[in-house]
Amino acid sequence: MSDAASPTPVPPVKTLPDAQSVTQVTHWTDRLFSFRVTRPQSLRFRSGEFVMIGLMGENGKPLLRAYSIASPNWDEELEFYSIKVPDGPLTSKLQHIEVGDEIILRPKPVGTLVHDALLPGKRVWFLATGTGIAPFASLMRDPETYEKFEQVVMMHTCRTVDELEYGRKLVEDLQNDPLIGEMVEGKLLYYPTTTREDFHHKGRITDNLTSGKVFEDLGIPPMNPAEDRAMVCGSLAFNVDVKAVLEGFGLREGANSEPLEYVVEKAFVGDGI
Ligand code: FAD
Ligand code: A2P
Repeated sequence: MSDAASPTPVPPVKTLPDAQSVTQVTHWTDRLFSFRVTRPQSLRFRSGEFVMIGLMGENGKPLLRAYSIASPNWDEELEFYSIKVPDGPLTSKLQHIEVGDEIILRPKPVGTLVHDALLPGKRVWFLATGTGIAPFASLMRDPETYEKFEQVVMMHTCRTVDELEYGRKLVEDLQNDPLIGEMVEGKLLYYPTTTREDFHHKGRITDNLTSGKVFEDLGIPPMNPAEDRAMVCGSLAFNVDVKAVLEGFGLREGANSEPLEYVVEKAFVGDGI
């Protein structure tokens, strides 16, 4: 038989620009899911940054939204943690993706929730509501976090217990991880709370900080600018209120260009904002 008779295998053609393939999808609640995609070989990012991802719209134009990368920068794949907005232009469709589907990913990571934007300190606080835990899912899995800080406090607040499950499982897996588990042990203090359902710890992050309850529960001193650093990610209202609390403890807002004691990023842009 001549060579011409046996067809050369053709690699699968990517149909979208900047396309990445979905490798895993997990639905946590009817409002929350996470998924993993292939990582472009050229993509370098700092844990905590976000990128634009999306799907091709019906008009043939990409429909893109900002998403925090939830996986750490050493991971071979990229992970995202997403809301499902029933009438949301993107997430009403994105929530139906399956393994093997393609999404669009613009490989230009940016963001303020990065180690470079904080001065060195003893303790770092990750303060999140809802899907705002996504950038911290990346930072909690990055060894640099534990090299830079003696203690890492993850406060995550949701309305109900089931909405905490992604974070709870992530912390559990991290503590049992053969590589990073030892580094995390005794350093990562996880403080999840609910506000609208019974749970062993309750209340808004702002209230647990101002009342001092979280310091008592964890056996650590009240926040102070000499020792404490913070990163904040939630709704606009949450971010505004937490900023006031942090400023009350004497912490100042920093940026990539001017590292200080805390940094903030919106977890989403709310209605009418
Ligand atoms: P949109 O038209 O974008 O939003 C419709 C409405 O849904 C909004 O007005 C708001 O009220 C509500 N909404 C949107 N996103 C959320 C959310 N995450 N939680 C609660 N309510 C929401 N979303 C994620 O799910 N995961 C992320 O990691 C993430 N990272 C982001 C990072 C940045 C810097 C910004 C600015 C936004 C981020 N978002 C994230 C929000 C995301 O960009 C989209 O808004 C979201 O995917 C919904 O898209 P949509 O087109 O379906 O609806
Ligand atoms: P609460 O139930 O008391 O409103 P949402 O689902 O509305 O985005 O809220 C997610 C979580 O963030 C909820 O537990 C909610 O508490 C809390 N939260 C909302 N707004 C604020 C705020 N301004 N300050 C502190 N926590 C907030």
